[in-house]
Amino acid sequence: MTKYIIKGGKPLYGTVEISGAKNAAVAIIPAAMLVDGVCRIENIPQISDVTMLLNILRRLGARVRVVDRHTMDIDCSGVRSARADFDIMTRIRASYYLIGALLGRFGKALVAMPGGCNFGSVRPIDQHVKGFIAMGAQVDVKNGLVSASAPEGLHGADIYLDVASVGATINIMLAAVFAKGVTRIENVAREPHVVDVAGFLNAMGADIRGAGTNVIKIRGVERLSGGSYALIPDQIEAGTYMAAVAGAGGSLLIKNVIPKHMDCITGKLEEMGVHVEEGEDEILVSRSGPLRHINVKTYYYPGFPTDMQPQIATVLCLAQGTSIITEGVWDTRYKYVNELLKMGANVTVDGRKAIIQGVDCLTGASVKAWDLRAGAAMVIAGLCAQGTTEVEGVDYIERGYVDLVGKLKKVGADIESVDVPAEDEEQEIIRIG
Ligand code: EPU
Repeated sequence: MTKYIIKGGKPLYGTVEISGAKNAAVAIIPAAMLVDGVCRIENIPQISDVTMLLNILRRLGARVRVVDRHTMDIDCSGVRSARADFDIMTRIRASYYLIGALLGRFGKALVAMPGGCNFGSVRPIDQHVKGFIAMGAQVDVKNGLVSASAPEGLHGADIYLDVASVGATINIMLAAVFAKGVTRIENVAREPHVVDVAGFLNAMGADIRGAGTNVIKIRGVERLSGGSYALIPDQIEAGTYMAAVAGAGGSLLIKNVIPKHMDCITGKLEEMGVHVEEGEDEILVSRSGPLRHINVKTYYYPGFPTDMQPQIATVLCLAQGTSIITEGVWDTRYKYVNELLKMGANVTVDGRKAIIQGVDCLTGASVKAWDLRAGAAMVIAGLCAQGTTEVEGVDYIERGYVDLVGKLKKVGADIESVDVPAEDEEQEIIRIG
């Protein structure tokens, strides 16, 4: 088991380089399944979700060549099977993109149901399934498997999503790339990574218009051929460092960002009294004075991202006055609040709302990362707290953040990643059990 040990109370100064976007990478890697030839993908983040997806592609018969630390050549032309019912699929949410990709390519798919971060309620895929059915597929979801087939091939359709789901928008787009005629998806997700997936597919020869607006139109093409594509920078990784400096104080130059993607986060931090200066592809964030309380409602892009909710809530624990967070995307995403309470925060959860009464300081404690962003929030809490914080469950964090510990150390944080020896782990299990 690995833990992070953080000695808090040190402001952050220096430069952080943001990696490629996780949620673009985990969609574009399966999208390579549709390409007949070699795709060179640049700016790939080195995170465990990416490693797992590349392994899934390899097991299906794809050839993956590592060009350098951030660049891969993926060639799926040798894949012959539409069956991905491996155990590893259940460990990662984005494995569901293989349903759309395999269905689009082979007219059939048998895929294990996805896993990933659990926010305390079921994560449905009914909107994905509705889209596949509208395009002529038969879909069956049972015993942890999704089986889809379209013996006559897929055809274009008009699909209205009940919720602007990122996953459903991308999955239907993947299935529609070769469908006969035009597929029109309304009420789609507009997140930057949705636009990036459309950009990748178009760069390989697809005909997709409207990504970034409410309606996406896909005109089916015969074939996608190889090419190169560079992923956008990770909006949430950048936002996490913005929140870290807002909480711990100091001044960080955050490089390799698209400032426009950060507007929804920047606006809220400025309301809290954080100074943000935008450059062309960098942002300078600094905070020295007290933090002001604010209200935040998470929503679909361009709203405030749900994936930044735990991080901003943690910083608001140290703001003067009462702040209210309303979760507008997931039913619940507040499991981490109990961990903040151990550190002296004053937070009450009421359904989708968290009411945060600011306190003067947080105190170091042993806390757990319940999911990826909750884990990032625990690290921020540790950086802000007086004393030592130990964060367990960091595997979750490493699924989505490239070298969080190394990047934070470089800007002055006192944080170490330590391996807990097996016997300690055993004793720990006995203590808990
Ligand atoms: N929903 C449905 N039916 C569906 C799909 C979604 O009702 O068929 C609902 C969900 O229950 C939720 C809302 O729609 O209330 C949004 O879900 P969405 O499908 O957009 O989420 P997702 O595709 O499963 C992606 C990100 C998440 C991020 C959400 C929302 C990936 C791999 N994951 O998940 O990212 O929270 O969009 O922006 O892209 C993270 O990075 O930490 C993370 C969890």
